[in-house]
Amino acid sequence: MKIGICNDHAGVEYKFKLIKYLKGKGHEVVNFGTDTTDSCDYADFAHPLALAVENGEVDKGIAICGTGNGMAITLNKHQGIRAGLAWNTAVAHLVKSHNLANVLVMPARFVSYRMAVSMVREWLAAEFEGGRHERRIAKIPVKEK
Ligand code: RB5
Repeated sequence: MKIGICNDHAGVEYKFKLIKYLKGKGHEVVNFGTDTTDSCDYADFAHPLALAVENGEVDKGIAICGTGNGMAITLNKHQGIRAGLAWNTAVAHLVKSHNLANVLVMPARFVSYRMAVSMVREWLAAEFEGGRHERRIAKIPVKEK
């Protein structure tokens, strides 16, 4: 699978570790994040990742910032994005099985790296349940007036 990953300064360390982990599992990874811990603005990295997911350049995305909220809020401005914030493996599972999140967002300052990699594993492996969840995600996009 081709996975895009983005981060701000709070997510640099986890990003590099996750890239190594994902490549080790045979995935191709495209890095849309900053590679330094110099203070920066999450939106500068979230928008390019969102566009890459929307246009099919990558299959899915992973986004990391301090709380995860800056990334999630920015990513979800894009109509083709369902970015889900997760903080444990149960939520990471549900954000795929119920919400079909095409971007997993994680809060680097509030979860261990061990938890982050477990969440990525869970989210990638989980299957969308469809059914009532299909109906629900179909209602997410803003309708044209
Ligand atoms: C950076 O200090 C922090 O604001 C950012 O990583 C994120 O938590 C914003 O939502």
